Amino acid sequence: MKKITIVGAGRVGESTAQILAKEELCRELVLLDVQDGVPQGVALDIQQSGSLLRFDTRVRGDTDPGAMAGSDLVIITAGYPRKPGMSRSDVLEANLGIIGGIVDQVLLHAPDAMLLMVTNPVDVLTWFCYQRTGWPRHRVFGQSGALDTARMTAFIALETGYSVKDISALVLGGHGDAMVPLPRFSDIAGIPLEHFLTDEQIEQIVERTRQGGGEILSLKKHSSAYDSPAAAIAAMVDAIGHNRKRILPCVSILDGEYGQQGIAMGVPAVLDESGLRRVIELQLTAEERQAFQASADMVRADIQRLP
Ligand code: LAC
Repeated sequence: MKKITIVGAGRVGESTAQILAKEELCRELVLLDVQDGVPQGVALDIQQSGSLLRFDTRVRGDTDPGAMAGSDLVIITAGYPRKPGMSRSDVLEANLGIIGGIVDQVLLHAPDAMLLMVTNPVDVLTWFCYQRTGWPRHRVFGQSGALDTARMTAFIALETGYSVKDISALVLGGHGDAMVPLPRFSDIAGIPLEHFLTDEQIEQIVERTRQGGGEILSLKKHSSAYDSPAAAIAAMVDAIGHNRKRILPCVSILDGEYGQQGIAMGVPAVLDESGLRRVIELQLTAEERQAFQASADMVRADIQRLP
C-alpha cells in the first residue's frame, strides 16, 4: 500500500505505527490525533528510529483530518479505553460521537479507502461504520479475532511448552466475555489439543482467552493491552498489503453466514488486496452454535443501543 492513516495516536495507535513503519507495510504513514503536538511527536520519534531499525517508511503526525487524503487504508484506534471493572460495551456511548466524527472525515477525505476498526466495542462500532459509510462490506471490517486467537495460541504454548510456531488456534464471536474459542479447530503441528492437554486444561485455556484483555487491564490498571493488539492489526495489514489471502478471524459484516444478518462479529475471513474478500463459514456443533448465538445476542443488544 502507498499510504495508511492511523487515527488515534494513543498507545495502540503508536505501537501499530511502529510495526507498520518497521515492516515497511506502506510508503507513507500518517498518524492523526486531536491533541496538537502528540501525533507530530509520536511520528517524529518513530521516524528517528528508521536508520536504526532499517526502514524508509515516511511517518508524519497531524491534527488536520485532510492529511488522510489518498489513504489506501484508514485504521481507527481513537476513543476511550475501558477502565478496570468496565466491560467493552460500557464505552459505547462515549466512543460513538468520536467515531461518528472520524467516519465523516474519512468519507470526505479518503472516500476510496478501506476502513479497519479497532476501537471498542469493536463489533458494534464496525457495524456502525458500515452503516455510516454505506461502503461494501469488503472495505469495512474490524480487528479482534487475530488478537483473541493469538492469546489462545500463547496460552496453549505456555501450558504445553511447545513452540507458538506450531500452534494454530481459532476464536470466533464478538470481542467480549462471550467470545467463542474453538479447541476443536485448534492444534499443535496438526495434532489435536486433546493429545497434549486434559479437558480441564483446555477449559482453562478457553476461559483465560475469553478474559485475555481483562487480565492485562487488571494487572496494568491504567492501560489496556496495546502490544499484542498492534501486532494483530499489523498481521491484518500485512495480509492486505501483500495480497496474501490469509485466513484470519476478523470482525466481518455478516449477511446470512452463521445464520446472522445485520450484525458485525468475529468469523474467519480471507484477507487480500481488496480487503475482506470473503467470510468462511464453518460447520459448528450444536454446542458451538449455541455459544456463537449467545455472543451474537450480546453484540446485537449493543447494536440496538445505536441511535
Ligand atoms: C483487549 C482490549 C483492547 O482485548 O479489547 O485487550
